[in-house]
Amino acid sequence: SVLILDFGSQVTQLIARRVREAGVFSEIVPFQSAAEGFARIKPKAVILSGSPHSAVDIGSPRAPQEIFSAGIPVLGICYGEQTMCAQLGGKVESGHHREFGRAFLDVKEKSALFDGVWERGSRHQVWMSHGDRVTALPEGFKVIATSEGAPYAAIADEGRRFYAVQFHPEVVHTPDGAKLLSNFVHNIAGIKGDWTMAAYREQAINAIRAKVGSGKVICALSGGVDSSVAALLAHEAIGDQLTCILVDHGLMRKNEARDVVAMFREHYNLPLILVDAADRFIGALEGEADPEVKRKTIGRLFIEVFEEEAKKLGGADFLVQGTLYPDVIESVSFTGGPSATIKSHHNVGGLPERMNMQLVEPLRELFKDEVRELGRELGLPDSFIGRHPFPGPGLAIRCPGGITREKLEILREADAIYLDEIRKAGLYDAIWQAFAVLLPVQTVGVMGDGRTYEFVCALRAVTSVDGMTADFYHYDMDFLGRAATRIINEVRGINRVVYDVTSKPPGTIEWE
Ligand code: XMP
Repeated sequence: SVLILDFGSQVTQLIARRVREAGVFSEIVPFQSAAEGFARIKPKAVILSGSPHSAVDIGSPRAPQEIFSAGIPVLGICYGEQTMCAQLGGKVESGHHREFGRAFLDVKEKSALFDGVWERGSRHQVWMSHGDRVTALPEGFKVIATSEGAPYAAIADEGRRFYAVQFHPEVVHTPDGAKLLSNFVHNIAGIKGDWTMAAYREQAINAIRAKVGSGKVICALSGGVDSSVAALLAHEAIGDQLTCILVDHGLMRKNEARDVVAMFREHYNLPLILVDAADRFIGALEGEADPEVKRKTIGRLFIEVFEEEAKKLGGADFLVQGTLYPDVIESVSFTGGPSATIKSHHNVGGLPERMNMQLVEPLRELFKDEVRELGRELGLPDSFIGRHPFPGPGLAIRCPGGITREKLEILREADAIYLDEIRKAGLYDAIWQAFAVLLPVQTVGVMGDGRTYEFVCALRAVTSVDGMTADFYHYDMDFLGRAATRIINEVRGINRVVYDVTSKPPGTIEWE
């Protein structure tokens, strides 16, 4: 396998991901425990990550020296290049010419790293982010590519199979980066690319077993893809040591709780407790119009209900969570913003400490699309895996103004019809997220011979890659007309439908 030595870069996981995509198993080891990790893993190759540190500073982290005497290939990236040079006898200085963002690289020499990707004399876009730079090479190294700000943009000691680059091959803004990393692990290190998601599943299962031993484990199943995949993995690993709890807060989509329970109990035979807490949640939310109060009330009640159920089971030692890698990065890079709020609900914030449980997070290294692939591997149906995201607070934040049972019921019906029309039109997979919103506004209409005075329903649909930015979906008008007609005809309480054409930013995807 490949050992990725992490010096604390925000994008270290992307290196792991690219190596996985090349079909090679890798393990990330923080620099603090690098020596133990190296001895334990006995890797066939090592990649040194970037870092927020400066290699020039006294006391900045270093790679264990034995990595360089083990006879295996080493690739240094950014800070990894600098520390490699410093440790092998070269020189690094604080850069006068800082380089951030897009840069162009001139390939000066043939190299095993560039084989079949970059020819000598060609020029390529790469992504740079560095202040320091190498100014003198260690013995045995030569420059294989330069950029305007970095005369040592890529260097190699082909004999010892040491390579180092100042740019970041792991990010998408270095279009050929994945191929360079593939060259390193396949051609240079000679590792076969036969590692798959099936192998990840095996590893994750073994890791869960090793962590929890004979301990008791619980999981908050939401019905979303992440918690479902995490629960299934844990179930495969430890069977009935795991109990899942699904809190139905009465704010789910039509039939959602029923369908999720049916699938997990019947298909997977998973020990699952369904808690019908709708009255408690809706009782507490009745008449509430403030979006933040809604969110906080739901978060607080969720923890209360979950904790009560867990106590009935006699407590637990571990809590399984479907935390993904982007959640891990966000929790490092942003504090206090809206994303932090999202997480505190989504990740059952506060519970592990209150109940003195340790966390089991088998998806921590994965991105959403990899979790979907793992879900497929675990036999989850495509219709489930491809479902649109659904927020923890559910329909409560799609019902602006005071919440009532009646309004939630109207909204649930309208939403189901809207999604049914989207599926029938074959548009579901082209849309990132689509839902109905029930406005706290009544307007006059005429139906049959009578005057009506009923609610307005807004339809929302967006395209997005990660939910951070989004564009409204450009339907054709016939589709919108069809959906509106059905909603008005079939849902009592709505006599007008409008379409939301706001992108994010300036809007958010949800209305509250
Ligand atoms: P916004 O509305 O902020 O939403 O543009 C971005 C994405 O996050 C989802 N979302 C949430 N998910 N708990 C969640 O689990 C929440 O409190 C929450 N709020 C928003 C939203 O549906 C969209 O996919």
